[in-house]
Amino acid sequence: MKKKSKRIKSKKPESKTSFSLTDVISMQDFSKHDIEFILEKASILELMHSSKKKTILFGKTVATLFFEPSTRTRLSFEKAAQDLGAEVIGFADPNTSSSGSKGESFSDTIKVVERYADLIIARTPIEGAPRRAAEISSKPIINAGDGSNQHPTQTLLDLYTIKKTFGKIDGLKIGFSGDLKYGRTVHSLSKALSHYKVDQYFIAPKELEMPQYYVENAKKSGKVKLTEDLYKYLGELDILYATRIQKERFPDPIEYQRIKNVYILDSKILSKVKKTFKIMHPLPRVNEIDPSLDETPHALYFDQLSNGIPVREALISILAGVKK
Ligand code: CP
Repeated sequence: MKKKSKRIKSKKPESKTSFSLTDVISMQDFSKHDIEFILEKASILELMHSSKKKTILFGKTVATLFFEPSTRTRLSFEKAAQDLGAEVIGFADPNTSSSGSKGESFSDTIKVVERYADLIIARTPIEGAPRRAAEISSKPIINAGDGSNQHPTQTLLDLYTIKKTFGKIDGLKIGFSGDLKYGRTVHSLSKALSHYKVDQYFIAPKELEMPQYYVENAKKSGKVKLTEDLYKYLGELDILYATRIQKERFPDPIEYQRIKNVYILDSKILSKVKKTFKIMHPLPRVNEIDPSLDETPHALYFDQLSNGIPVREALISILAGVKK
């Protein structure tokens, strides 16, 4: 196995025809070119015949290490890897199927798995752990969500969904509602949108406001509005990206009980929104979107799920093998 230098090498020299990253850790690392490169590659893979796709990663092994629960991210990564002909190894529950329960460190787990796999996809509750993994691993790392920090692959599928639906990203007015403080999906997406000309609306109770860093960053790309009132700007929005109030991130369970149903999207919104208005949500949902909206033309959240496959295929096919 080739020895890696101690310093993180997450960037290759920028080229107009290639992706510049060797690991996918944070949207902070992505140039606009990198984002557009993945979206273009995903659109090609979405149309590619399955028999041709199956040859792309033939003989490669992809590891999925989920130290936190997941339905969509893990299954869509595993499906994407299998579609490309790769073998998949890994675990969904570290307590029953990894030596973490015996006290093995995250770093040691990465050092083990890099000997078995060509690419490692990891979700962890610890912010920054995937960055650390990229520093020590000789194989590429994809962050499948780290605590309240980042969820870059969700963002790429969100951007793919927006572009596919609206034909563009520039010029849109995009609202975020719910848990903007702990929500890694909104942190990643808001950061990525600053590469485009987008107005961003942050709708949250005081306790769950968007961190100031992301608010300031959003001002680079367009107007920014903050409110606690779900209905205040609803009629202006092209998209509302709703999120779950995350019980598991709340330090105080009483505070969670008080806030958990703060925003519920139901049929009352229909008289307020534009005809072309769309609701997005990374899922899982709890109460924040009433199922009666699922069959309306405004619901985009199930399309997001399907778009996760070609986007994750694009990432896996580009990254598997970039580090030796
Ligand atoms: N959107 C998302 O990350 O869902 P999972 O937690 O089910 O992976």
